[in-house]
Amino acid sequence: MYLWIKALHVLAIISWMAGMLYLPRLFVYHADAAPESDKSETFKIMERRLLFGIMTPAMVTAWLTGLFLATEAGFFRSPWFHAKLLFVSLMTISHFMLAKYRRDFSLDQNAHQSRFYRVINEVPTLLMIFIVILVIVKPFG
Ligand code: HEM
Repeated sequence: MYLWIKALHVLAIISWMAGMLYLPRLFVYHADAAPESDKSETFKIMERRLLFGIMTPAMVTAWLTGLFLATEAGFFRSPWFHAKLLFVSLMTISHFMLAKYRRDFSLDQNAHQSRFYRVINEVPTLLMIFIVILVIVKPFG
């Protein structure tokens, strides 16, 4: 059972991370499209479907399966897991910040230039590297 849930966990994080890396990239191009243009309206549809169709369900599944695994294996006492919880919480905050930017775009109220989205695109990448090292190497405890 544990391994089946872990397989589901890995599938969920792959889907979540695909969106966390791709959504800010869409914002980079969307920021350069004129508001109300055909291009901008197409980006709105892509962004909405990516966030609500893939990223949000994947994030919920990652949390539910991850907390189940941690409970089953007794990881709540392990320091590496505390560090992982910190980074996945930062990932979750990033998710909600991207959701806020998407909402601004959907209302034609984007307040940032494409360069800003290029920079924040790196945040989920860095968090993902830390999280994977923590869970695979378990460098402390
Ligand atoms: C959302 C909250 C999350 C929680 C509570 C959580 C918790 C856990 C737990 C307890 C395990 C089992 C570790 C083991 O059996 O040794 C696990 C496995 C794993 N997690 Fe997460 N996780 C979360 C999100 C993530 C994210 C965002 C990533 C990557 C970006 C990730 C990557 C992995 C990987 C690669 C494994 C498999 C490790 C192995 O092969 O044993 N997790 N997770």
